[in-house]
Amino acid sequence: MTDAKPVAAQVLTAPPRRSPKPPGPCAMVIFGAGGDLTKRLLVPALYNLATTGLLPEHFELIGVDLADLDADKWRDSLHTMMESFVGKTASESRIDKVDEDTWKHLTGHMTYIKGDLTDDGLYEKLKQHIDQKSDTGGNCLFYLAIADRFFSPVVTHLGKAGLLEENWDEDGKAPEHWRRVVIEKPFGHDQASARALNTAILRVAREHQIFRIDHFLGKETVQNIMALRFANGMFEPLWNRDRIDHVQITAAETVGVETRGRFYEKTGALRDMIPNHVFQLLAMVAMEPPGGFDAAAVRGRKEDVFAAMRTVAPEDAVRGQYGPGPDGVVGYREEHDVAPDSGTETYVAIQLAIDNWRWAGVPFYLRTGKHMSRRVTEIAIRFKPAPFAPFENTDVGTLPPNWLLLQIQPDEGIALQFEVKRPGPVVDLAAVRMAFKYADWFPKEPNIGYETLIYDVMMGDQTLFNRADMVEETWRVVSKVLDNWSTETPEGFPNYASGSDGPAEADALLARTGRAWRPTMDDGKSR
Ligand code: BG6
Repeated sequence: MTDAKPVAAQVLTAPPRRSPKPPGPCAMVIFGAGGDLTKRLLVPALYNLATTGLLPEHFELIGVDLADLDADKWRDSLHTMMESFVGKTASESRIDKVDEDTWKHLTGHMTYIKGDLTDDGLYEKLKQHIDQKSDTGGNCLFYLAIADRFFSPVVTHLGKAGLLEENWDEDGKAPEHWRRVVIEKPFGHDQASARALNTAILRVAREHQIFRIDHFLGKETVQNIMALRFANGMFEPLWNRDRIDHVQITAAETVGVETRGRFYEKTGALRDMIPNHVFQLLAMVAMEPPGGFDAAAVRGRKEDVFAAMRTVAPEDAVRGQYGPGPDGVVGYREEHDVAPDSGTETYVAIQLAIDNWRWAGVPFYLRTGKHMSRRVTEIAIRFKPAPFAPFENTDVGTLPPNWLLLQIQPDEGIALQFEVKRPGPVVDLAAVRMAFKYADWFPKEPNIGYETLIYDVMMGDQTLFNRADMVEETWRVVSKVLDNWSTETPEGFPNYASGSDGPAEADALLARTGRAWRPTMDDGKSR
């Protein structure tokens, strides 16, 4: 197989046709101000927004946490964190320096409120604090960067304290000010708990105020799936059961559970990745064309996919757990805060069916795991073979398949694998690849993936966020497997070595129908 040599990208299109405008004034309250998410992702993303001129001109950051901090100490700790990202190309935040003017714009008006999330007094204090802010026009974004057990109590407290009131006038015109809540994952741990959480939240807030975040939707390459499908006429005629044999979605990580043993023990790979991140990728691939790119149209088409997904049967799911690997890598059961006989899965593979006209009979294979051989998130679409091969001694069955690869990370791009004639006097075939790499065409901007999502919240655009019914439906799809796994102790754990491609049972899942995983994990270049 030959790989296309990168050529200097030529600009085929005019300069950007649309430039984003900064949102109007607002305050942003971060619950969990001292936490890891705030430091590693939210503040660097806000900094990047400020750098690109997309932070509101009047912006106030309000931190809430139990830690004994004040505004100065909080600011200093964040600044130290930002400094630690400088020059670290491997870090999510990738910055060359901390620009002090930009930093001032972001943190110039920051305040910190120490308090217990379950205490009424905290919300009264917060209300007085927000009411005093005239520069932000009363607009306020509440970001719940906290443990999921607090989601319901915090939103309920916000409601009770009157912090979610928007004062719509009677004819339903836009409110004088807006109040929005961003809720991180996990949104529930099964269908019943997701439903209960939605019910509690929607008792005090309206759906348009709730932004259920899935950070995969902030990835450029994920959003690009819609552009590829719906801004190009050539793919749509192929995009169905007539031409597609099956779809594989891989989200493989090389990291283990690191310091998150306590969280991971009760979560596992299925809950952590499948009904949220991986299903979002799947929905982008499987959705019908929306009538527009507004939230109602896009989310409606995605919900159609979730509703058409058949509930996965336990025999269509495989679980795995990593054991020790080379170079002293410890097995999952030896990790911190993990039980020595833990039955929690760190790998999952499932076969899934979508019951609609476009996808009937096309299996979707999904897999995700920790401590795999290679970090790669990729959607691989395998096309049906040519119906007949008019080449001497060539049987259609021996021709390598055509694949369309949507590479989400770390090598962001799109590749198409097809057959060509090998140069020479005899007709012989070879598989080659045509590859588009984002990096060849667009300058790499500092982007950690939360920028677009935070910007969209400030703009009130819910397109990239989950609606209540969407999360409940996705939990329904995995419910039987979760029930089954909660009662049946897994056998043979650990069943894959750290640094490998996962358990053999996952290969057997595809072998049942004569299929195999594309060997994505080696260098991404194999067939
Ligand atoms: C998180 C999961 O939601 O996504 C983690 O809790 C996982 O376990 C992470 O590592 C993967 O995200 P990304 O953006 O690093 O691929």
